[in-house]
Amino acid sequence: MSPLDAAPASSAPRINPLQRIWLREIGMERLWLRPAPAVSRQVAAPPAVVSPQVAPVPPPVAAVAAPSAPSAVPEAAVHAAAEPAPARPGVPASILNRTGPPPRPVPKAEAKAAEPPPIPVAEAVKDANLEQLSGQVLACKACGLCQGRRHAVFGQGAQPTRWLVVGEAPGEQEDRQGQPFVGRSGQLLDAMLSAVGMSRERDVFITNVIKCRPPGNRNPKPEEIAACSPYLMRQIALLKPERILVLGRFAAQTLLGTDATIGSLRGRIHQLKTDEGAEIPVIVSYHPAYLLRSPSEKARAWQDLKLASRTL
Ligand code: URA
Ligand code: SF4
Repeated sequence: MSPLDAAPASSAPRINPLQRIWLREIGMERLWLRPAPAVSRQVAAPPAVVSPQVAPVPPPVAAVAAPSAPSAVPEAAVHAAAEPAPARPGVPASILNRTGPPPRPVPKAEAKAAEPPPIPVAEAVKDANLEQLSGQVLACKACGLCQGRRHAVFGQGAQPTRWLVVGEAPGEQEDRQGQPFVGRSGQLLDAMLSAVGMSRERDVFITNVIKCRPPGNRNPKPEEIAACSPYLMRQIALLKPERILVLGRFAAQTLLGTDATIGSLRGRIHQLKTDEGAEIPVIVSYHPAYLLRSPSEKARAWQDLKLASRTL
C-alpha cells in the first residue's frame, strides 16, 4: 500500500501556507483543493507536494520559485506523479502528467521562423528556362514592390531575339496589362524600332530592369534593383541577344554598373560580359518618356538607333 493511499478519499487535503503558494504558482491550487476521488488525487499530485498526512514537511522555498528544482521527495510520490493522470476538464493532459516545467508555448514569430526561408532570386533563376523564369517573376515577392503591383511584367517579344530592349520599370499601363511599353512611351518605341526595320514581334524582346511598378513611378530603390536584377541577367543568358539597346539613365547605369551620365554613355558601344563569358554589345539611348517631353532630342535617339543597326 502506497503512503498516498492513506489519504482520506472524499475531502481536500490539508496544506500549509507555503504549499498553497507553491500550488498557486503552478496554477494547481484550485484543482488540488477541490475534493476529488482518492485515485485521482493520488495520480494528479504535483511531484514536490506530498500528501500532508504522510509528509508534513513543507517543500523547500526554492521549489516555490522553481517548481522543477530538485527537492527531497519520497520515492513513492515521484512514482505516483510520473504515472499518467486521468483527464480533467480544462487542464491539458501535458500539464497533469508532466514531471518538469510546462512546455513553453511557441511564440508566433518563432513558429514563422521555422518555415523554410524563401530561396534567393539569384539561386532560384539559375537553372530556369524562359517559361519557368516568367512564372517565377509573376509569383515573385522578393522585394516590397510586389505589394502594390497588379501584374509583374516579365517582358514580351521574339524568341530567339536579335535585340533585347531594356527599359526602367513598368508604368501604370504596363502594370494594368502585364506587358512592357504599352503606354505612350511604348507607341514611340515601336515607331523608333520600325524606323530601323525592327519589329516588336519579330526581332526584339522588350523588358525592364525592374519587373514590378514602383508606386507613383518613383525611382526604384537600390535594394529593389538588387532583388530584381537576377531576372534580367537570366533573361540575357537565355535569350542570347545579338545587341542590347538600353533606354534611359537608370537602366543604362544599372546594366553597365556605372554612375556615368547618359550623355557620356551614348554614342559608343559598350560590352556586357555575361556569366557564361560572352560579350554582348550594348547601345545606350534616351528613354522614350524623356523623348516625349523633349522632342528635340529625337534626332540624337535616331543616331543611337543607326549605331545599333550598324553594328549588326
Ligand atoms: N517605361 C519603362 O521603362 N518601361 C515600360 O515598360 C514602360 C514605361
Ligand atoms: Fe520580385 Fe522584381 Fe517584382 Fe521585386 S520588382 S517583387 S524582385 S519581380
